[in-house]
Amino acid sequence: MTDIEQSNGDVLLYVSHLKKYFDISKSGFRTTGHVRAVDDVTFTLNSNETLGVVGETGCGKTTLGRLILKLLDSTDGNVYFNLPRGVLDKIMQLERELELLGETKNEESEKRTKSIVKELGEINKEYSLTKIRSGKMKKYRKDMQPVFQDPFSSLDPRQIIRDVLAEPMKLLTDMKGEEILGRSMNLIGEVGLSEDHLYRFPHEFSGGQRQRIGIARAISIEPKLLVLDEPTSALDVSVQAQILNLLKDLQEQKNLTFIFISHHLNVIRLMSDKVAVMYLGKIVELADTETLFTNMLHPYTEALLSAIPLPDPKVARSRIILEGEVPNPANPPKGCHFHPRCKYAMTNCGWSPRDFVMPLQEMLEPLRVKESNILPATKEILTDESSNSIEVVFETGINSQQFETFKGMLNESASKTNGVRFRAITSISLSQTGSSIVIAIKESDVPRLKEIKPGHYVSCLMYEKGAESTGIRGSNVNPATG
Ligand SMILES: Nc1ncnc2c1ncn2[C@@H]1O[C@H](COP(=O)(O)OP(=O)(O)OP(=O)(O)O)[C@@H](O)[C@H]1O
Ligand SMILES: [Mg+2]
Repeated sequence: MTDIEQSNGDVLLYVSHLKKYFDISKSGFRTTGHVRAVDDVTFTLNSNETLGVVGETGCGKTTLGRLILKLLDSTDGNVYFNLPRGVLDKIMQLERELELLGETKNEESEKRTKSIVKELGEINKEYSLTKIRSGKMKKYRKDMQPVFQDPFSSLDPRQIIRDVLAEPMKLLTDMKGEEILGRSMNLIGEVGLSEDHLYRFPHEFSGGQRQRIGIARAISIEPKLLVLDEPTSALDVSVQAQILNLLKDLQEQKNLTFIFISHHLNVIRLMSDKVAVMYLGKIVELADTETLFTNMLHPYTEALLSAIPLPDPKVARSRIILEGEVPNPANPPKGCHFHPRCKYAMTNCGWSPRDFVMPLQEMLEPLRVKESNILPATKEILTDESSNSIEVVFETGINSQQFETFKGMLNESASKTNGVRFRAITSISLSQTGSSIVIAIKESDVPRLKEIKPGHYVSCLMYEKGAESTGIRGSNVNPATG
């Protein structure tokens, strides 16, 4: 395991290094890349707690929920559910040891690594939901149920509610006719509807009532965990509040554990004991709700919380507004995925050649910047991600004075508060041909989710030892060009 070491308490769910990479195929059959929808997610969740999962669209919330429920197969990683205490402790201890062994390389450590991998492999075949045989999954299916935004989207519109509710009980329990009907009558009351509703069709219900039925169906087989994916996002605000209250009441009465997915921050705050903030497949911050909302540490969380959702009644889901676009998840930014949008970004956060193309084009466009008039026209800007360098090719050869001018322009950009990417430049050199300039960029670091304060996990290089001052606090010295 990583730094998530909450092995105390009553852990119901332990998600360890979970990954889901979707293949991308351009021509329909050949895989040309991957979308890292969920990328190394680790957390624990105690019984009777609610973990809120929040983040912009496409960051992997739904995929994470579906992986936990095994509605989707994972690419890698493990999901442990309701394990005997001793087994869970053993897994965590082995994972911790494996991690420490990764830092030393010798014959003995390699031998021990092999033996731990083997031991974990055996345990996982028996206990990890991502590894067990499908026949064994039935016993878990009963204990974990989904609640979706539109509970009826996948159901037969010709079924009356009595049959809708009966289905999971028939499938996953030994209950029979009368018993199932009796339970359905209780359930319908528990979610605030009446018995005659059992004999109506889905289309006869309002959105709120449909979600009540969705909840009744999910709890019909007495699960321990509910994965609620935007359960109220399609509802009017007043109805939303009723459903949220119902969920809270049911949680208390039935000792339920929730994973509550939403990009509605107020709803997350209201419902969650702790909150995981996701960005491009990764958890970037995880803390108890109050801490996260009042004392957030990750720049992405800060941006997310300061953004105001658009209240447009015509739009079913309000979108989080944050400057800049969410990058393409098939080709995420290097280092920390958030660095291009981060106002505190440092020089080691992941700057790579592609981050320079636009700024260089702007800088060299003759009409915008007068210095560039004395440089020849730019022919092309070539990037080489593997050597972390950029080559600016000019139409004609350039002389040393022009080279100095160009260096001066880069230096000036580096001295600006928002010029952190230019401060990541390590060298600027004239090529052999004399008609291009090669810019090399510092190698980046990769942040990992770490416990910064007790129970408060953050994945950000600002909190690593020896972090440089940030763009905003402004160190204006460029080691390369200064
Ligand atoms: N079946 C699939 N095949 C390929 N890519 C997928 C598939 N399902 C999801 N993705 C991609 O995985 C990423 C995460 O998607 P996901 O639906 O989990 O995000 P989300 O956080 O739930 O977004 P939203 O807030 O819009 O519901 C996205 O880039 C999405 O396009
Ligand atoms: Mg989703």
